[in-house]
Amino acid sequence: MAKGDGGVGAWTVVAHVLAVAATALVLIWCIHFRGGLALRSHNKQLIFNIHPVLMLIGPIVLGAEAILSYRSLIKISSSREVRKKAHLALHGVALAVGAVGIYAVFKYHAEADIPDLYSLHSWIGIATISLYALNWLAAFLTFFFPKASPDTRRSVVPWHALLGLLIFGLAIATALLGFLEKLTFLQAPPMHLVSRYGAEALLVNFTALIVLFLGGAVLLATANIDSTRYTAM
Ligand code: HEM
Ligand code: HEM
Repeated sequence: MAKGDGGVGAWTVVAHVLAVAATALVLIWCIHFRGGLALRSHNKQLIFNIHPVLMLIGPIVLGAEAILSYRSLIKISSSREVRKKAHLALHGVALAVGAVGIYAVFKYHAEADIPDLYSLHSWIGIATISLYALNWLAAFLTFFFPKASPDTRRSVVPWHALLGLLIFGLAIATALLGFLEKLTFLQAPPMHLVSRYGAEALLVNFTALIVLFLGGAVLLATANIDSTRYTAM
């Protein structure tokens, strides 16, 4: 659906529903199955639990809502400036929530005596959050304050949108790796804390699947399908 045509596309609605579902599922997992959340505790696992919850609510759920805000807020405000402020602010909150989530996992590692940045998840994760912060800053300077010239803004915006979707895709991939990694730790010998075939394993795998579908729905909601591009039929 074209932007600004007065309606909210079906994929945007699907993305909202999946975003709510993913938030509920990660909270059920970390609070009901994993014992709860705490930034300070003798039980270091509770410090870890902050990480998946905030990474999901931040760069993934609020990040998705920020990307969709140009389309989903069309009924609330037809002003592009208002929606631009919502986009900027939601991405800002997403980034701040993500930064606290990363702080929590570093704190957990420090207090549980676990080395930092040894896994594929952690490498892609640190790259993702850094690119998210850089993209936010570059876009703020270009589109908001002090603002580049109209010509520059026009030529930068497609790159901003493409890079933004790429970074969002990286956040989705990082989260999938994170769920898989944590589940593997919990299932590994000698502790076998979680059964391979039980309810908790199913819940974590299903949450990751919902996150993947959320990524797909955001991509489909923002895709501008242009059939005139294809000439060799
Ligand atoms: C956008 C989403 C995410 C980002 C950017 C991210 C980033 C990171 C980073 C940078 C670390 C390294 C911390 C250190 O070395 O001290 C880490 C650790 C970890 N994260 Fe995530 N994370 C995300 C989502 C998740 C999710 C959803 C889970 C699911 C449980 C998860 C599970 C873990 C685990 C188990 C560790 C500790 C082991 C390791 O360092 O690989 N992460 N994460
Ligand atoms: C990491 C943070 C950000 C990400 C991931 C991101 C991502 C995106 C995406 C995917 C789009 C395309 C949306 C669509 O097609 O409907 C977009 C559009 C846009 N973004 Fe961002 N963005 C970020 C931060 C910012 C900031 C801080 C500003 C500053 C004002 C900004 C300004 C814009 C503008 C002006 C558009 C064009 C909207 C239009 O005319 O359709 N973005 N962004």
